[in-house]
Amino acid sequence: MERPFPTVAVVGLGTMGAGVAVAVARSGRRVIGVEAGPTQAVRALARIEASTARAVARERLTAEERTALLALIEVGDDLAAAAQADLVIEEVPEDLELKRGLFAELDRICPPETVLATGTTALSVTRIAAATARPERVLGVHFFNPVHSMKLVEVVRTVLTSPRAAEQVAELARDLGKEPVAAGDRAGFIANGLLFAYLNQAAAMFESRYATREDIDAAMRLGCGLPMGPLALLDLIGVDTARTVLEAMYEQSKDRLHAPAPILGQLVAAGLLGRKSGRGFYTYEAPGSSTPVAEEAAAAEARPAGREVRSVGVCGSGTMATGIVEVFAKAGLPVLLAARSQEKAERAKAQLAKSLERSVAKGRLTEQARDAALALVTPTGGYQDLADVDLVVEAVAEDLAVKRELFTALDRIVKPGAVLATTTSSLPVISCATATSRPQDVIGMHFFNPAPAMKLVEVVSTVLTAEDVTATVLELCAKVRKHPVECGDRAGFIVNALLFPYLNDAVRMLAEHYATVDDIDTAMKLGCGYPMGPFELLDVVGLDVSLTIEKVLHQEFREPGLAAAPLLEHLVAAGCLGRKTGRGFRDHARR
Ligand SMILES: NC(=O)c1ccc[n+]([C@@H]2O[C@H](COP(=O)([O-])OP(=O)(O)OC[C@H]3O[C@@H](n4cnc5c(N)ncnc54)[C@H](O)[C@@H]3O)[C@@H](O)[C@H]2O)c1
Repeated sequence: MERPFPTVAVVGLGTMGAGVAVAVARSGRRVIGVEAGPTQAVRALARIEASTARAVARERLTAEERTALLALIEVGDDLAAAAQADLVIEEVPEDLELKRGLFAELDRICPPETVLATGTTALSVTRIAAATARPERVLGVHFFNPVHSMKLVEVVRTVLTSPRAAEQVAELARDLGKEPVAAGDRAGFIANGLLFAYLNQAAAMFESRYATREDIDAAMRLGCGLPMGPLALLDLIGVDTARTVLEAMYEQSKDRLHAPAPILGQLVAAGLLGRKSGRGFYTYEAPGSSTPVAEEAAAAEARPAGREVRSVGVCGSGTMATGIVEVFAKAGLPVLLAARSQEKAERAKAQLAKSLERSVAKGRLTEQARDAALALVTPTGGYQDLADVDLVVEAVAEDLAVKRELFTALDRIVKPGAVLATTTSSLPVISCATATSRPQDVIGMHFFNPAPAMKLVEVVSTVLTAEDVTATVLELCAKVRKHPVECGDRAGFIVNALLFPYLNDAVRMLAEHYATVDDIDTAMKLGCGYPMGPFELLDVVGLDVSLTIEKVLHQEFREPGLAAAPLLEHLVAAGCLGRKTGRGFRDHARR
């Protein structure tokens, strides 16, 4: 294809427009910048000069490249100059009437073949296109901030946009070194559509005081590998902007999960917009600062000291049990590894030895440390050996009947005052607790897989858990170098309750033919910095496991938007469970 759009006009040279103008000029194209008035034009040019000077200082650009690209950019305040362009990219403030007026004007000024693109985040591209007489040549081109480093560009087609115009804009994006993905005209497009629904749930979770802001943020960073926690991200994006995007999403979807959480409106009304105003969910050193200040601990109720834990028991012989044994042993705690038979326990210890061996081979563990850890682990085929341990963690099959039976047995065997913990990820902790005569001593310790590597532990207290039991587990987590977050005993705890609705939204987006598996994965990785796209993650976790968790969440909250996407159910019914069966959302066998 010949190089599309040799001359590009950029209207509005603020945060986004200035970045787009520089990116386009770097590709050797002529850029006609248009601002609202002469003062704004002077300021815009100064902004472009300053940002490119910074790029030279940071060695992202040579001085010669800077001179060459600045020579390609002209900035004025007369919209008529846009008539010389092959493509006009609009980057004025997010206001429908402003954008519609501008497009009507551009439609009069520009020759009929000129393509007009809007940079809107959440407004309807279709309604903007309707202000012109050339809707087939109007589309959305959604860059991400900061334009120079963010590779994602969403190319948004309305029902009227010609495929050729969309393909040419995608080609331009590739020419700028970006990765274009194709999206339809829906508020939020792909990346923000999936991201903001999740941010909204996190805000609602905070608002209901289910967990603290620090714990919600740490849980998503450490449990999912996200670059930032959701509440810190809301502060960065701007609480007002987030609320506007969610309003637009709700307007179109009528999905209650998109209705902005009331706390967002309260923060906006109070002028607490996030980093830019110095306070949002967190308080910052100054407006514009990224450094949060520690606030006075809200009259931190003195928590009782935890109970002493000198030895632990782990029940089970699977992946989680073995991983948890490794965590304790490496921290120097004697561990009884209790399985259903001596043979299973021995085999689990052999697994552990292999895992430690791998750490030694990778230089992460010394041979002495390996030997010391192994020496602390005693395999046993009888739960009666757990009589004297101070804390037991149960990691047997995710089946309530099996777990309750085990807790009843532990209640008979283990000495009074010991803490009994379950690693369940989807069953109620309280149902384990009531299988004993000492529910105050029962708590959830939700480790993540692989336990030795994942820092997070969700510490789940039931309505009956004693405060010193919670304290015991928090202290133990610190001792074994895990990051504990505290939450209550409801479905999904923090991480799964925020993660799986997002994964389900992605499946729905796919089922509606809104975007492809690859484009959705790319959008989340490049637009939001996620380590994996939703479909990659679903295939790794297992579609059956994901479906179970989604059903538990829906059953708990009865939120219509949480109902598992039918496509997920169909794939599970068809035996497409992800990597483990060779096929899920992608075909792994053929790769
Ligand atoms: N900031 C982001 O993170 C981000 C990311 C992606 C998309 N967007 C979208 O990009 C668009 C631009 O946002 P921004 O953050 O760059 O805003 P901004 O406020 O930084 O810049 C807007 C610029 O447009 C100029 N302007 C206003 N009216 C004009 C007119 N009639 N003619 C010419 N110029 C005019 C203003 O002087 C200002 O310089 C919005 O639609 C926004 O939703 C923003």
